[in-house]
Amino acid sequence: MPEAAAGQENIEALYAENRTFPPPADFVAGSKYADPAVYAEAAADPEAFWAKQAERLDWFQKWDTVLEWDAPFAKWYVGGKLNVAHNCLDRHVAAGNGDRVAYYWEGEPGDARTITYADLLAEVEQTANALKSLGVKKGDRVAIYMPMIPELPVAMLACTRIGAPHTVVFGGFSSSALADRINDAQAKIVITADGGYRRGQASGLKPNVDVALASTESIEHVVVVKRTGQEIDFVEGRDIWWHDLVPQQEASCPAEPMDSEDMLYLLYTSGTTAKPKGILHTTGGYLTGVAATHEMIFDLKEDDIYWAAADIGWVTGHSYIVYGPLANGATSVMYEGTPDFPDWDRWWEIIEKYKVTLVYMAPTAIRAHMKQGAQHAEAHDLSSLRLIGTVGEPINPEAWVWYHTHIGGERCPVVDTWWQTETGMIMISPMPAITTTKPGSATFPIPGVEADVVDSDGNSRPLGSGGYLVLKKPWPAMLRGIYGDPERYKATYWSRFPGLYFPGDGCKRDEAGYYWLLGRVDDVMNVSGHRLSTTEIESALVAHPAVAEAAVVGQPDEVTGEAIFAFVIVKKEIEPTDELGQELRKHVARVIGPIARPKSVMFTPDLPKTRSGKIMRRLLKDIATNRPLGDTTTLADAGVVDIIQSSARGGKDDD
Ligand code: PRX
Repeated sequence: MPEAAAGQENIEALYAENRTFPPPADFVAGSKYADPAVYAEAAADPEAFWAKQAERLDWFQKWDTVLEWDAPFAKWYVGGKLNVAHNCLDRHVAAGNGDRVAYYWEGEPGDARTITYADLLAEVEQTANALKSLGVKKGDRVAIYMPMIPELPVAMLACTRIGAPHTVVFGGFSSSALADRINDAQAKIVITADGGYRRGQASGLKPNVDVALASTESIEHVVVVKRTGQEIDFVEGRDIWWHDLVPQQEASCPAEPMDSEDMLYLLYTSGTTAKPKGILHTTGGYLTGVAATHEMIFDLKEDDIYWAAADIGWVTGHSYIVYGPLANGATSVMYEGTPDFPDWDRWWEIIEKYKVTLVYMAPTAIRAHMKQGAQHAEAHDLSSLRLIGTVGEPINPEAWVWYHTHIGGERCPVVDTWWQTETGMIMISPMPAITTTKPGSATFPIPGVEADVVDSDGNSRPLGSGGYLVLKKPWPAMLRGIYGDPERYKATYWSRFPGLYFPGDGCKRDEAGYYWLLGRVDDVMNVSGHRLSTTEIESALVAHPAVAEAAVVGQPDEVTGEAIFAFVIVKKEIEPTDELGQELRKHVARVIGPIARPKSVMFTPDLPKTRSGKIMRRLLKDIATNRPLGDTTTLADAGVVDIIQSSARGGKDDD
């Protein structure tokens, strides 16, 4: 288990961090979830626990059976009927809460909109009718490729209202990534915008859609929101402005009763092979899981102002900007831009402006803020905050303590939440009014979730040791499969340890049973909290005419968690220059998206391989991180590493 074993070195360092943080007394006193008995209760009868959680939703028809488990295929709330948009909107308006703010939206240029539940419902109904007018029917897939503007959740909710699964593609992805996802999902419609704002610049989205559609056949129409007003091409008959289509629709659109197990959405995530996986989520279990965890883990109350500083294009946004908060009738902040524009205090300014009480962000953002210094936060009144959370990657104790001190004012519990696109909902996290936290540990599986740490044979490891994280029981928001590929679903998650779900993460438990996540054990890198597959990036590099072979590895990075380090072998007639290195970095950004741009490119005449021809990434990682080489005995050609180490040429960047 080389990766987890390597991770254990980190654990030794973490142990030096022995501070513990019990929940503050006033926080406990005000919390609905302060009784530790909830753990035992849920463990004694998880199905009863999750049945009780599902009662928070409005069901058109109640379920007959809580769980049908035909491993590894789960069905939750079998026989139940409900509609997600109805649960997120109609029922709150019907209860007299139409004037409650759903989103305080803040655009990057400083424009702002306040959107109530009644506003959101009205816009969703018209948008749903617009989709119907374009021929979208229950079960049809709709691709959404948008900036962080209110029309994005509106589009998602409109899809759910008529039972059309959406697939949201992160606006930072390139046209070819978009095309792959459209093709895999066989989407009928794309909803996009002319562009979005990023660091003061209008960046184009519609132009990428135009390029993508040259290699897709399923799309019939493109609906375009005008956000930036930039020049774009319009294809007659195919492309329609949102503002010409939506406002003219009928005001009322009934919410389609959906089966609990009907598909709600697909969200693509990187795997160890080049083809992204369409993670499939369904209706009743997913909504129950995200609504319950959003209330329990964030200690949500009536008057909270909640902000997940993430993009809706990732699962964090799906579960904890859109579906969880809206199902709970919460008031959220939604922000279009980056943390550093126009300056590094933008986020803290937003917290002050809206008196945010609960904030959720990625460790990579915390480290970036840490790097800039606490003065930006100190210039703003953050005293409204009462809980702060993190997600996306392991948070190092130093960043945890900085966050607790400078953002949480030493009074806010920190919830470090472990979960995945596949789990749909938070799985390992403190319960903020119950759990004593330790900086760097996600602490314990939440009530109703059973996990373990096992050895390579699947046997439980004793406390105080490391191994592979596994989940032992199905949970309501779990993925139901990989779209169109049940075999890959079984092979990826259920074959490593029969009967157990393997998320791909290493983990260690300390003597007190706290879980310390060690990162991924496979070839997937975690850059700024986003999972990127080495294979996908290698494929992009090899697609460049100058490249013969490529191998990429993650290199620890102070800000982004991991940075991408690419080893490249050029074709025979090609000169490996620094300019070419820069060009390759740009090329990857173009093909996959800026997030996948390698931080470093190193040209090498060869790559270390086993006799069976498998690239030994472990050794490349040693080289990339300047650490002593591990075991080289299985190398086909032991000299190759010296050759690589002596050929340090390529492109590097600190952006
Ligand atoms: O390795 C774990 C890491 O992110 C992976 C899931 O990535 P993704 O599906 O993109 O979802 C990210 C947002 C939920 C996990 O397998 N990860 C996520 N949260 C944590 C984490 N690692 C350690 N601690 C966390 N809190």
